Amino acid sequence: MIIFKEAKNIHEYIQSKKESGLSIGFVPTMGALHKGHLSLINKSKSAETLTVCSIFVNPTQFNNPEDFQKYPITIEEDIRLLEMNGCDILFLPSYAEIYPHHFLAKNYELGKIETSLEGASRPGHFQGVCMVVEILLSIIDCDTLYLGQKDLQQCLIIKKLIELENIHAKLVISETIREENGLAMSSRNKRLTLEEQKKAGAIYQALNYIKQNIQPGTLDELKFHATNLVTENGIEKDYLEITNLDLIPIQNWDGIKKIVVLTAVTINGVRLIDNMILN
Ligand code: PAJ
Repeated sequence: MIIFKEAKNIHEYIQSKKESGLSIGFVPTMGALHKGHLSLINKSKSAETLTVCSIFVNPTQFNNPEDFQKYPITIEEDIRLLEMNGCDILFLPSYAEIYPHHFLAKNYELGKIETSLEGASRPGHFQGVCMVVEILLSIIDCDTLYLGQKDLQQCLIIKKLIELENIHAKLVISETIREENGLAMSSRNKRLTLEEQKKAGAIYQALNYIKQNIQPGTLDELKFHATNLVTENGIEKDYLEITNLDLIPIQNWDGIKKIVVLTAVTINGVRLIDNMILN
């Protein structure tokens, strides 16, 4: 695996590979890699001729400074895992490579989706995500961008960014990889004790409970029972919403429309999110 730290060097390298006809798959990450990230690397590897991963803990998307400071960093292990999984190129930029002195923050017109769910709980978060993703995509001019469904709202935001900025990358959204107890893999799980990781299996149980029991009509009672499954394990609920595929919450289901449940919870100060398509 070739490791680049400078934007100019990786940009030139990728351009030369594209000119010789290779297709580029790109997996942006914030590191502390797990099997969820590696599933994206493997998906890219089976479709593209060159797979690029980036690791950059992007400060502009953290609305909570403590969350940023405590974000796990495991670079050496990450490099080992990427090499084991056959990743071709790693981009490991410094802050100044991504945000040089002359950098001017833009404001992206993302519409309602920016301020609902994650956006409501983390003001400015998706502006920061768009900022870094647009910069990364200008450096790594990929054919295909690989994202995880675990961050469904982020996927829709990046889809919008690609349209807004006329970026020529195809988006592939990949299924959520889970622990044995159903807990969605996340870098933040590294901040949980084993006991807390066990309890966090209740998040998946709550989503599954909704999937198994959903019926046309009002959804309040179903959400109430699912929320109880989480809170009786000492997990704090931030939101649990059933929405359409544009992530607009619905109170009544017609039994036909495609819907999804999304939740965010906090366990001992660690915020986790998950979602499940219901039909
Ligand atoms: P990060 O949380 O490191 O996630 C990187 C990618 O891995 C995202 O597309 C995310 O959805 C995917 N991912 C995380 N957990 C997963 C799981 N359990 N199964 C499948 N895919 C999973 O998301 C970010 O970083 C950042 O916001 C980023 C897009 C890199 C911009 O800074």
